[in-house]
Amino acid sequence: MAYQTLIVENNDRVALIRLNRPEALNALSGELISELAAAVTAADADPAIRCIVLTGSEKAFAAGADIKEMAAKSYVDVLTGDLFGPEIERINRVRKPIIAAVAGYALGGGCELAMMCDFIICAENAKFGQPEINLGVIAGIGGTQRLTRFVGKSKAMDMNLTGRFMDAAEAERSGLVSRVVPVDKLVDEAMAAARKIASKSAVATMVAKEAVNRSYETTLREGLLYERRAFHALFATEDQKEGMSAFAEKREAQFRDR
Ligand code: CAA
Repeated sequence: MAYQTLIVENNDRVALIRLNRPEALNALSGELISELAAAVTAADADPAIRCIVLTGSEKAFAAGADIKEMAAKSYVDVLTGDLFGPEIERINRVRKPIIAAVAGYALGGGCELAMMCDFIICAENAKFGQPEINLGVIAGIGGTQRLTRFVGKSKAMDMNLTGRFMDAAEAERSGLVSRVVPVDKLVDEAMAAARKIASKSAVATMVAKEAVNRSYETTLREGLLYERRAFHALFATEDQKEGMSAFAEKREAQFRDR
C-alpha cells in the first residue's frame, strides 16, 4: 500500500516503518496517525513479518501531535470525534513486538508514541518531552500515565509541568529507553534487535509481550500468577520441546511457531 506520510520497507522478516513528514518534524497529523494504524495493523497480520521497527528522521522521531491541525478545534469537536482515541487504540492492539528507534525530538505525542512501543532504543541526540503545558493543554495519549510508570512521579511531574526536555543520557538513566547508540547506528541497532526477536518462537515472543504488559494492569500477585500460567502453557508448544532439545544438543533451535 502507498502511504503519503510513511515509508514502509519489509526487510528480512522485519517491517521498518519510517514517519515521513519532514516539513513538520513528523508531527502526528490525522492522516499520519491513520496511516500508521493501517501500517502496523497490516504488519501484524502479515505472516512474513515477525517484528516492527518504528522510526523517524535524524532530526525528529515526531515533534508531537499536529498543533496547526488541532488549533481551531472545539471541545465538542475533539470529544465527539474522540481525538486520538480509536486510531491510537489500533496501534496499541498490535501483538507483534514493536521497537521505537528514536533520534532527535520525541515530544508530546511523539514521546507518547515511542512509549506505546515495546521498548525504545534512542540515539545520542534524542530529546524526550511533554511540552503540551506550553500550549495550554496536557498530554493526551499517555504522557501523564505511561511516562509516570516508566520514570516515576517526580520526573514525570517535572516534565509535564515545566515542559522541559530529557536528553538521551537522562532517558537511559531513568529507564525510559533501553539503549543509547550513535545517531548513524540507530536504525541498524534497532533492526539487529528486531532480527534477533524475529529468530525466536513467535508464540513465545507474543506471550512474553502480553505478560510484560500485564504488569502495568494488575497487582503483583495476579501478575505473577498470570506469568506462571503463561509459562506453563508454553509447555504445550512444539517450540518449547525444540528450544530445550536444541540447548541439550548444543545446536541452534529451529522454531516453527507451533
Ligand atoms: N505540529 C505542527 N507543526 C510542527 C510541530 C507540531 N507539533 N512541530 C514542529 N512543527 C513544524 C513547525 O511549525 C515548522 O514548520 P514551518 O517551517 O512551516 O514553520 C517546522 O515543523 C520546523 O519546526 P521549527 O521551525 O519549530 O524547528 P526548530 O528546530 O526551531 O524547533 C521544536 C523544533 C523544538 C521541536 C519545535 O518545532 C517545537 O517546539 N515543536 C512543537 C513541540 C510540541 O509542542 N509538541 C506537543 C504537541 S501537542 C501533543 O502532542 C498533544 C498530545 O499529547 C497528543
